[in-house]
Amino acid sequence: MRKASVMMDRDFAIGKTDARLFGAFVEHVGRCVYGGIYEPGHPTADERGFRQDVLELVKELGPTIMRYPGGNFVSGYNWEDGVGPVETRPKRLDLAWFTKEPNTFGTNEFVEWCHAAGIEPMLAVNLGTRSGDAARNLVEYCNHPGGTTWSDLRREHGWEKPHGIKFWCLGNEMDGPWQMEYKTATQYGLVAKEAAKMMRWIDPTIELAACGSSGRNMPTFGRWEDEVLEHTFEHAEYISLHTYLNNYAGDTGGFLASPDIMDMFIDEVVAIADGVAARRRSPRRIMLSFDEWNVWYRTRRSRADRVKEGWPIGPAILEEIYNVEDALAFGGAVISLLNHADRVKAACLAQLVNAIAPIMTETEGPAWRQTIFWPFAQMSRLGRGSVLRTRVESETYSATYYDPRGTQDLYFPLPEISYLKVSAVADDAGGLSLFLLNRDLSQEVDVDLEVRNFGRLSVVEATELRHDNLKAINTKERPDNVEPVSLREVAVDGGKVRATLQPASWTVVKLAAN
Ligand code: AHR
Repeated sequence: MRKASVMMDRDFAIGKTDARLFGAFVEHVGRCVYGGIYEPGHPTADERGFRQDVLELVKELGPTIMRYPGGNFVSGYNWEDGVGPVETRPKRLDLAWFTKEPNTFGTNEFVEWCHAAGIEPMLAVNLGTRSGDAARNLVEYCNHPGGTTWSDLRREHGWEKPHGIKFWCLGNEMDGPWQMEYKTATQYGLVAKEAAKMMRWIDPTIELAACGSSGRNMPTFGRWEDEVLEHTFEHAEYISLHTYLNNYAGDTGGFLASPDIMDMFIDEVVAIADGVAARRRSPRRIMLSFDEWNVWYRTRRSRADRVKEGWPIGPAILEEIYNVEDALAFGGAVISLLNHADRVKAACLAQLVNAIAPIMTETEGPAWRQTIFWPFAQMSRLGRGSVLRTRVESETYSATYYDPRGTQDLYFPLPEISYLKVSAVADDAGGLSLFLLNRDLSQEVDVDLEVRNFGRLSVVEATELRHDNLKAINTKERPDNVEPVSLREVAVDGGKVRATLQPASWTVVKLAAN
């Protein structure tokens, strides 16, 4: 058995978690919308076509903000196609996923769905095939009270009150050649700046996120952020980051180490953003919107997994089936996000249903939770509060991480990886949540945690997510095969907490003040 120790003090906090850190993402891709959140005719669907079984699972998952409608899709989207009488909405070819878009679900339905789910909507505008003009019209349609063509059109469409959308993404992954009309950093920076100006002139209360790099492995990473922020620094509150962790190499140790690359990525983007501020002698701090993150690799590289021939509507693409080791790597990403609560103010799990998602459905059938559902739900439920600085003493291991770009092989050097990865969140009621990942595949870790300045604590809940088979999955037939179970080996004594973590496990402990 390995030994590890962790020390923290209630007075030493990194920052408060923003409610938007617990977001997710609905794109018009595969069966995320059609056959996912929206399936008229499904036995549980309401009169609007919203699947209630999915809605119940979404509420349990607990996302707080939802990004829409893409993703790659948004870079060719005409938002006007998705509003007004459904019978007259055009069908279009979508060149992001090579599908037919029926437009029976659009902005208003999405906002309505968010209300039903109790979630804040986040909209992305098309800065690929379109630019500032379409973006400002969408802001006017959504947020202006009335008395203009666009705002009155919304009222005519049945939404008398403005939607009041606060968070807007200035395009999506505009650094990526796979994007419709991708751009150089200078081209994008200029377009984003002009769009931002006009959008904010219509509604000064909105918050804007400029596109950062679509991955740390992009050749333009670093220079992209610097140049984009040079143009948008005064016009955007956020710069975005995207990461999909992978296990292409079939190396579990490297895979579980990979969330530490998210930590580096965040630190690097913060440094670049603050470097731009420094050049301007500006006290302004650009925050980070990690608006796509997840594990994704099985259905990513082969065209057959991404594209079904014949331009179908809502095909079963990107339907990644998540196993236990995916949930562990995902848990590591949760810890990385929590531990940067001072600068990462929004984050979106990509995505929500069916396409690389925590929730799976069968069209006309049931819905169930994938393995990654659990760390996300626990993060959202127990991660609210002040994230504490932790001093972790743990043995380490060496790992390599393979993160290919296109056909190019890229191996990323990693620092020594601590077997134990930890986040600690103090809540406003004097309690504490601990998130612990044991990355040792064969040994238990006995952890001693010294928690200073908390008074008397007691265990409210303690669970572990693990399985003898790291490849175990949940299915329609066995939806509860992988789920958190009660952790027996946890004890609290004054300011000391002791827990024994199973090999390759994700543990969550909630302590309350007595
Ligand atoms: O989430 C799937 C895709 O991944 C998104 O459409 C795109 O933004 C990213 O490349």
